[in-house]
Amino acid sequence: MGTGTTATQTMSTGLSLDDVVLTFGDGDTTVDALDHVDLEVRRGELVAIVGPSGAGKSSLLAVAGGLTSPTSGTVRVGEEVLGGMSRRRLAALRRDRIGFVFQSGNLIPALTARDQLVLVTKITGRPGRDPDALLDAVGMSHRADKRPGRLSGGERQRVGIARALMGNPTLLLVDEPTAALDRTRSQEIVELLARETHEAGVATIMVTHDHDVLHHCDRVLEMVDGAVHPYRD
Ligand SMILES: Nc1ncnc2c1ncn2[C@@H]1O[C@H](COP(=O)(O)OP(=O)(O)OP(=O)(O)O)[C@@H](O)[C@H]1O
Ligand SMILES: [Mg+2]
Repeated sequence: MGTGTTATQTMSTGLSLDDVVLTFGDGDTTVDALDHVDLEVRRGELVAIVGPSGAGKSSLLAVAGGLTSPTSGTVRVGEEVLGGMSRRRLAALRRDRIGFVFQSGNLIPALTARDQLVLVTKITGRPGRDPDALLDAVGMSHRADKRPGRLSGGERQRVGIARALMGNPTLLLVDEPTAALDRTRSQEIVELLARETHEAGVATIMVTHDHDVLHHCDRVLEMVDGAVHPYRD
């Protein structure tokens, strides 16, 4: 399972955002989805982000994962600065180091749950993790041969989480992993994310509305109007 965490890994920065702004729109109708965000997540740290709808949580994940370029500011994954990277280099960095779990699951319709995971090893050309063990870890072994069209929303997201872990990412970005899950399953999924984060030295950000899972996280932040603050109950 985990590769073991060295002291250096735990101390090292997995992700940093330095004065990041993301502005949508033009003229009078602009919105700052990210309003001067400074954020550092160390490897081996699970950070939760809470906050109202439209606060900028998914935007933060998109910018951190190199899917969206910020309007200004600097994003680093490990020591690598994303800005100014060629498309090819950015794609390779995403493939090799970043795991992304989207709000929607984002699975490939024609592939079974198991094949979604196997595809990762084909794309990266590295053996990666054992797909059956990961499907088991997210409670999806019994649905391994089903395509996404035959799965519930919560089941799709669990496959999405297993797929994101396949390539041993150093940065894991997870959007609302428990939104479609019952309480017991939510606890199991976030426990799994915490274990993976700590054992494999991953820097993980999890966006959630679910206050019952926050005790599994090392730090909780709140986003309001594009700004990030420490969260106070
Ligand atoms: N592609 C886009 N074009 C224009 N505005 C956008 C775009 N994507 C997001 N926004 C705006 O940016 C702000 C932040 O959106 P974002 O999706 O990051 O919020 P969120 O915190 O993830 O909300 P939710 O909890 O509903 O998922 C919102 O005001 C949204 O309307
Ligand atoms: Mg969102």
